Amino acid sequence: MNTKRKITNWQVMEMSEIEVPRGLAGVIVDTTAIATTDQSGNLVYRGYRAVDLARKYSFGEVAYLILYGELPSKSRYSEFEEKVLSLSHLEDKYVKLIQLLKEKNVLSSMRTVTSALQIESSDKMEQLLQIAAKFPEIASHSYRIYRNLDLIHSSEKDISRRIYQLSTGKGDPERAKFLEKILIMYMEHEFNASTFALRVAASTGTDPASAINAALSTLKGPLHGGANSEILSYLLKFKNEEEGIEFVRNRLENKQLVMGFGHRVYKTKDPRAQFIKEELRKLIGDTKRFQIADAIETYMWEQKTLPANLDFYGAFYLNEVGIDEPLYTPLFAVARVFGWVAHYMEQNANNKLIRPLSRYIGNTGREI
Ligand code: COA
Repeated sequence: MNTKRKITNWQVMEMSEIEVPRGLAGVIVDTTAIATTDQSGNLVYRGYRAVDLARKYSFGEVAYLILYGELPSKSRYSEFEEKVLSLSHLEDKYVKLIQLLKEKNVLSSMRTVTSALQIESSDKMEQLLQIAAKFPEIASHSYRIYRNLDLIHSSEKDISRRIYQLSTGKGDPERAKFLEKILIMYMEHEFNASTFALRVAASTGTDPASAINAALSTLKGPLHGGANSEILSYLLKFKNEEEGIEFVRNRLENKQLVMGFGHRVYKTKDPRAQFIKEELRKLIGDTKRFQIADAIETYMWEQKTLPANLDFYGAFYLNEVGIDEPLYTPLFAVARVFGWVAHYMEQNANNKLIRPLSRYIGNTGREI
């Protein structure tokens, strides 16, 4: 007699159930070889500290590293830049779609265009690269069409200089270099919410554009990529440190979040925030505005032991670099998409459907 037959599906599930903390806080759900935070709290891309990469390498070189696991040789890198440039142009039919919708929110427009993209290739990596390469134009056109500005095209080979041109309409190499640093910080962060959403989607075997759209939609939320837009709206209005601290004190007293603080992984220091803070000091010096941000950071640490995250200094930094606020989260996506591409491929290479269980707390035993 086969005893296994007597066990119900439900009993089999119950025997192997594991209850994990809400929000999956502290839970390792799978392996990755793309990025991690090491024991000293450094963000590491493919074994190298992200801040070291940002000091020595270009955005395109770091993107190559994230995608293929190694830093490129000169010739490989030149081929890669050419390829990304050749894929970067957004065809007219998509521009018309952006014009038709004229979305106020640039990220919503990016989501719509991404789902509309018709990609010919059957090769998944090729499809993913096509999407990533088009992101800067999609973001730029969406932003400019909503604001009734002329569209910009750029044939600049260097990826981050092209992003700078498309975002600002200017060709300032010094500012473009500053922008590049934060784009590298935004590029990858292991199983953050948007990447995890992409991996859930990829685990079902769905196509690259659909998985990238899951990530884009998740990035938009104010607890994730959407935080940086909200930060600037409060940060710029203070004339001195006291006003800044007063604002933060009020929010804390009213049990409201102070955007730009706290992180699921970084509980004492966000290395990306500290790096961008240093870059900000190089950019604007020890000015009053810098001191106000610094005072808020100190106050938040003293009151709540919450560190400033990348978005706190990032929002301020992007403003000083000359980026308009509606482009903040879209630029996060323009950089993070290279991480998403790598994660789609990694999930695909060793797939297991991601499908957890829930603990049911609803009604039971109701009769019709
Ligand atoms: N402002 C005020 N209080 C905050 C806070 C913030 N920005 N971030 C966390 N806290 C508080 C929580 O309310 C909680 O308080 P409690 O213990 O009294 O309930 C405590 O600090 C622990 O936070 P928790 O919610 O457990 O952290 P988390 O790991 O779940 O959340 C974030 C991480 C990022 C979602 C959260 O810190 C946050 O919402 N920050 C603001 C949004 C933001 O800047 N996002 C960008 C992230 S890079």
